[in-house]
Amino acid sequence: MTYNIAIDGPAGAGKSTIARRVAKELSFVYVDTGAMYRAIGLFLIRNNTDIRDMEQVKKALSKVSISIAYKDGEQQVMLNGENVSGLIRTEAVGNMASAAAAIPSVREKLLDLQRKLAQTNNVVMDGRDIGTNILPDAQLKIYLTASADTRAQRRYDELCKKGIACDFLEIKEDIIKRDDQDMHRAIAPLSQAEDAVYLDSSEMTIDEVTKKIKSFYKEQA
Ligand code: CDP
Repeated sequence: MTYNIAIDGPAGAGKSTIARRVAKELSFVYVDTGAMYRAIGLFLIRNNTDIRDMEQVKKALSKVSISIAYKDGEQQVMLNGENVSGLIRTEAVGNMASAAAAIPSVREKLLDLQRKLAQTNNVVMDGRDIGTNILPDAQLKIYLTASADTRAQRRYDELCKKGIACDFLEIKEDIIKRDDQDMHRAIAPLSQAEDAVYLDSSEMTIDEVTKKIKSFYKEQA
C-alpha cells in the first residue's frame, strides 16, 4: 500500500513550497493538483471559452487532455502534450483556474488522474479537496493556512522575484476573492477535513513547517 500525505489550504499558504520540500526529504512524489487546474484554465483562456456557458465548457473539455511528467524531479504539467508548466503561474490563469474549478465536469476530469497517482506512488499531494474528497484515506492530512496579509505578501514577493510587476493591494484582494470562491462553491469546497491537522504558518518559516509535517509523519509511520 502507498503512503499518502494530503495538504490542503487557501492560496498563498505555502502549500506547494512545503509539499515539494516534504516530498523531497521523504523521497515521495510531489503532486501539485493546482497546476492541473491551471492548465485547464490556460486552455479555456486560449480557447476564448465563456465559462458561464456549459455547452462551451463541455465542448472545450472534450478537447483537453491533462497529464504530468517529471523532469529533474519536478512535476511538469502537460496540456495536450505541450509542457505548459512555465505558462500557468500568472494571476490571470490562477483566477480562471479557480472559476473553472467550481464546475463539476472540470473536477471530474482530474479526479481519476489524481487518485491513480496516489495509488501507485507514495505522494505528497496539495490542493483544496485532497483530504476531504480525492484521498479521504490519506494517512496524514494537513490543513495549511496563514493570514490573508501574510499570504498576499508571500505571493507579492514571489511575483517580484520573477520580475513580474504587481500591486500588493490588488494581490490581497485577489487572494480574498479566490478564497471566497474556493470555500463557498457547491462542489468540493476548500475545507479542513475532520481528521486533518491545522497548521497556521503565518509566524513559521518554511523549515519549521517542513519539520513539523515530517514529525507528524514519523509519529505515524
Ligand atoms: O498557487 P495557488 O495556491 O494560488 O493556487 P493553485 O494551488 O495553483 O490552484 C489554482 C486554483 O485551482 C485554486 O484557486 C482552486 O480554485 C483550484 N484548485 C482546486 O479547486 N482544487 C485543487 N485540488 C487544486 C486547485
